[in-house]
Amino acid sequence: MSRYHTIRIHHRQVNQEYSLQVPEDHYILHSAEDQGYELPFSCRNGACTSCAVRIISGELDQPEAVGLSPELKEKGYALLCVSYAKSDLEVETQDEDEVYELQFGRYFGKGKVKLGFPLDDD
Ligand code: FES
Repeated sequence: MSRYHTIRIHHRQVNQEYSLQVPEDHYILHSAEDQGYELPFSCRNGACTSCAVRIISGELDQPEAVGLSPELKEKGYALLCVSYAKSDLEVETQDEDEVYELQFGRYFGKGKVKLGFPLDDD
């Protein structure tokens, strides 16, 4: 028998507040979707950060969240597609690309990276 926790999700992009019960042994994103809630996602395997949230309170476990740096996990970010609830939780969705930019923006934003490749001369 799974233990259940209550999670409150503030989906900031659509200004909606969801409150639902999720089992401890299922990914939170999947449980929310099973119950008809639509949340941001893309890769669904902890790599892209589309599903990132800020944890306001509570605890979760995200051992497969390879797309999130230890630093950002420490700051309270989580990837819902690979997170398990460990207590009642309150989270809010990130600003668009917030986590991606926190992790990579300073590298990609810095140098003069030019898109495009040399064209063949013929
Ligand atoms: S959907 Fe890509 S990390 Fe969660």
